[in-house]
Amino acid sequence: MQRAPLTIQSLTLTSPVILAPMAGISNLPYRRIMKSCGAGLVFSEMVSANGLIRDGAKTQQLLTTHTEEYPLGIQLFGNDPQVLGEALSKLKNPPALVDLNMGCPVKKVIRSGSGSALLQDTGLITRILKVVRHCVTGPLTIKIRSGWDIHHINFLEVGHIAQEEGVDAITLHPRTRCQGFTGKANWNHLGKLKKSLSIPVFGSGDIMTVDDGIRMLNETGCDGLMIGRGGYGNPWLIQQLNDALQGKQITCPSTADKLVMIHRHLGLHREQFGDYKALLEMRKHISWYARGMEGASQFRSKVQACQQLSELICLTDDFFQQGHHL
Ligand SMILES: Cc1cc2nc3c(=O)[nH]c(=O)nc-3n(C[C@H](O)[C@H](O)[C@H](O)COP(=O)(O)O)c2cc1C
Repeated sequence: MQRAPLTIQSLTLTSPVILAPMAGISNLPYRRIMKSCGAGLVFSEMVSANGLIRDGAKTQQLLTTHTEEYPLGIQLFGNDPQVLGEALSKLKNPPALVDLNMGCPVKKVIRSGSGSALLQDTGLITRILKVVRHCVTGPLTIKIRSGWDIHHINFLEVGHIAQEEGVDAITLHPRTRCQGFTGKANWNHLGKLKKSLSIPVFGSGDIMTVDDGIRMLNETGCDGLMIGRGGYGNPWLIQQLNDALQGKQITCPSTADKLVMIHRHLGLHREQFGDYKALLEMRKHISWYARGMEGASQFRSKVQACQQLSELICLTDDFFQQGHHL
């Protein structure tokens, strides 16, 4: 099942398995972990075009990068072509790839006319792409949902507009805005989009296991896989998918491997954000790493109650060293 390397304009990916942009999750430490497990491309959390223009400290933090994670895709959200264009000119270093968010269902983002609200105005999508394409010489991608609601499914129309306006690849999360994260992602939409476009199509939605990923590739013919929630506490999913695609034997991490990864993840958080934020963030990640292990739910309660990083580390070392198995 050897596949030709996937290219997005000038960028050749080392793997077709990439990390999803996820607000509140895909920060620099998380991206470095996922990259080290073989992600072909990682994305920033979504960055506000308005925030970029204002040069806010929060926005600058979202843009912090490290050579280790290359290639990094910066995802922008906004709804004004000129603002998006100006925001791009504010980026201090040209990113390896620029992605536009046209799928976010969050109310605050929708109210500003951005994210999946754009799916309701394909004329505006065209105007945005014309301006942004002019500003971005490197790879430009968009990420969409299937449509606003089941009565307004328009991923094919948006896909065609994107291709015509020179977008280099597209990711589809085949749920509607109104679905949020409920129900199942409709992979049939992915198959249809892939068939009707010549640019690469990435599939996003409900890839929780290696079997899911391989099934998505086989059923839809999509070019690449975007890993979101399936990677929570399980960065090995990316490595396993890469191994499966190369016909290699898949291996599962031992509890000792998990503990090593947790320490690495924690170290990256401390380096990036300091101990307090590391404590808050790692409580969530460590709970995810423990998923499926015996005693995980009691462990999770104790983890959530931890107020000190030293306490969290002791608790975690104890749990994982005692070798709780599936
Ligand atoms: C916590 C969270 C934050 C997300 N933030 C973003 C985002 O900033 N930009 C975006 O395009 N999609 C975002 N998404 C959607 C994911 O990129 C992905 O398309 C979706 O979760 C479906 O994939 P999954 O089933 O593998 O998680 C987010 C999803 C989650 C769960």
